[in-house]
Amino acid sequence: MNPTLELLYAHRSIRKFTNQRVSDETVNHIIKAAQSASTSSFLQAYSIIDVSDPALRSKLRVLCGDQEYVENAPLFLVFCGDLHRLKTVCDLEADKHVTYTQSTYESGLTESFIIATIDAALAGQNALLAAESMGMGGVYIGGIRNNPKEVSDLLYLPDEVYPVFGLCLGYPDQDPLVKERLPQEIVYHTNRYASVDEASLESYDKRISAYYHTRTDGKIDDTWSKSVFKKFAGEKREHMMTFLQSKGFIKR
Ligand SMILES: Cc1cc2nc3c(=O)[nH]c(=O)nc-3n(C[C@H](O)[C@H](O)[C@H](O)COP(=O)(O)O)c2cc1C
Repeated sequence: MNPTLELLYAHRSIRKFTNQRVSDETVNHIIKAAQSASTSSFLQAYSIIDVSDPALRSKLRVLCGDQEYVENAPLFLVFCGDLHRLKTVCDLEADKHVTYTQSTYESGLTESFIIATIDAALAGQNALLAAESMGMGGVYIGGIRNNPKEVSDLLYLPDEVYPVFGLCLGYPDQDPLVKERLPQEIVYHTNRYASVDEASLESYDKRISAYYHTRTDGKIDDTWSKSVFKKFAGEKREHMMTFLQSKGFIKR
């Protein structure tokens, strides 16, 4: 196995960090790695906001569902889908063009929203992997979408920019077990889609239940299926469609 594969297979989210500061050089590498990800049509449709202000962090902690690592992680990056910059570029470019007399940018396209979201996610994963390769760890924060309007106001996000997820990063002060993923035959299909194999699912469920049991000293022993079931019974962030439309996304 090569070192890259070893790094990938060793991933587990880190939610407890030492006080060790992350140097500017390390932050530069993380951002450079994020920017090195592939990007749809070279659009680079995302922005990364490094939230270093303690007062902002403490507000974000609450807005993200009171997740204490949002406040206390040495680094907290918010990855935003960003179409605002592309609109600005098209508007500026229109002024220079002989062929196009007006901006080619069209607001509200669902496809543009998908592009921005994918770009932000690819950049985020490169950032996390870069951090892990330098001995750090981290956890994504989907809780940033619990209160997206308040977060957007706090971070001065203009229309056509939205917070996709946060990313807490720092040096690990815990060593959690790696969480086993679904068996390959459940996610990897050849030539045509195949529905879930129930026997394979059942044995995976048993292994995940044992994982939770070990990780929580017997307090939780949910199967994977049960955790999925509970997730869909809980908070669904149904406000997202209205929020996104209010910011100029997904209108057609
Ligand atoms: C987009 C995204 C959002 C997430 N949001 C949160 C979050 O708000 N809080 C949290 O503790 N973990 C969050 N996670 C971490 C997942 O729970 C975690 O990746 C998953 O359980 C698998 O565990 P592992 O990363 O340790 O392998 C998020 C992960 C992703 C990819």
